[in-house]
Amino acid sequence: MFTYNHDNLVWHGVALPELTRSIADKLLREYQYSGHFWLYSEQLLNERLKLLEQQLPGCGFYYSVKSQSNLALLAQIAAHKRFGADVVSGGELYRALKAGFEPGKIVFAGVGKSEAEIQSALDFQIRSLHVESISELKDIARIASAKGVVASVTLRLNPDVEVDTHRHITTGKEENKFGLSENDFQLSLKLIASSANLKLVGLQAHIGSQIFDSAPYIETANFLSEKYAAVRQVISYPLEYISLGGGFGVKYENLEGDAVNFDFAGLVEAIRKIFSDIEIHFEPGRFISAPLGILLTRVRHLKERTGKTIAIIDAAMNDLIRPMLYEAYHPILPLVRRAAQHTYDVVGPVCESTDTFATKRRLSELAENDWLAVGYAGAYGSCMSSNFNSRPLIPEIMLEASGTVRVIRKPQTLEQMVSLELT
Ligand code: LLP
Repeated sequence: MFTYNHDNLVWHGVALPELTRSIADKLLREYQYSGHFWLYSEQLLNERLKLLEQQLPGCGFYYSVKSQSNLALLAQIAAHKRFGADVVSGGELYRALKAGFEPGKIVFAGVGKSEAEIQSALDFQIRSLHVESISELKDIARIASAKGVVASVTLRLNPDVEVDTHRHITTGKEENKFGLSENDFQLSLKLIASSANLKLVGLQAHIGSQIFDSAPYIETANFLSEKYAAVRQVISYPLEYISLGGGFGVKYENLEGDAVNFDFAGLVEAIRKIFSDIEIHFEPGRFISAPLGILLTRVRHLKERTGKTIAIIDAAMNDLIRPMLYEAYHPILPLVRRAAQHTYDVVGPVCESTDTFATKRRLSELAENDWLAVGYAGAYGSCMSSNFNSRPLIPEIMLEASGTVRVIRKPQTLEQMVSLELT
């Protein structure tokens, strides 16, 4: 929630101009760093986790690590009993384990797991590998057999459900690369039934991201329930869980709060009617991590163009790529508001025209060196950052519930940035 108090930006009760100054001083003092940074709120993280626990009673959660994977955040999520981790690479598996998730509370998804990734998932005895192709299932069976173990697998199905979201983040349509087709599902069941090294523990579907309506989830739950009936024809033992994936949306335009306008109660009620005696899982990412993070950045230069001013800020597409990649909207809020308003293109310093955070945005008048907050930047923000234009990764700061600030990722030095390169 963003409000102004006497023209000073307040974020969930915290006055940002003062806090930003003190963090900037700390970074300068401790790391000789004077640039932009990410800020996360521990309190918001805890509120978000509790909210899901309350709204979806009886359900299990596998936090989608890809949405924000800093170890400090992961460690806090791991401390919540009803939360496991949904990982998509050996790197995320490493992070989840390092942050304290028990292997039995980690599931591994993704369309292209490597031999080494499957090996390590089996070695750590994670809860399940979410399988997306026959070829992958055969790989898992072969590797498990060589190790003399039984691999727990979950079939990710493609429910061909339409959701109203950006074309780059739909996943549950037949044409998308994700999940097994009906034919491959049937084949998978036969393969599993005839393999001594495969155990089917669940069925999963993920239909996309930024979803605000419970109807597509209910449609997916009905679809999975039908498929479970088909499983029973071939597999003699009961499954452990049904996972409906992630995707709960966040209203990026809504400054008034993280108003949750999702019909969780309706979803729970429908799911209870569809399933009994089986764990129901969700894999939320953005819903947890988007609201708790902001990007704090300064206006570097202003230059005039016809009908607008171009505001060049410190942050760029290598830090936060969502506006450039998905045409995503993020609120941009001056920490100290002025009375006059003006029209700005807000751009980063990277040498690409697409390095643009906002086009023709009405903002309170800006001056060089002003601080800005880019809101709802916690999800798919820092974890999608790169070193493009040889810009080092920027620091991440945690505002603890007690009000103290803690550096949870140091600024990357130039030396560190080139440290793997050999001349
Ligand atoms: N489970 C699976 C299998 C997924 O593929 C995803 C996200 C999630 C869970 C978590 O979805 P969430 O609750 O965060 O919507 N980078 C894009 C979003 C890509 C989402 C990919 N899959 C963005 O910034 O909008």
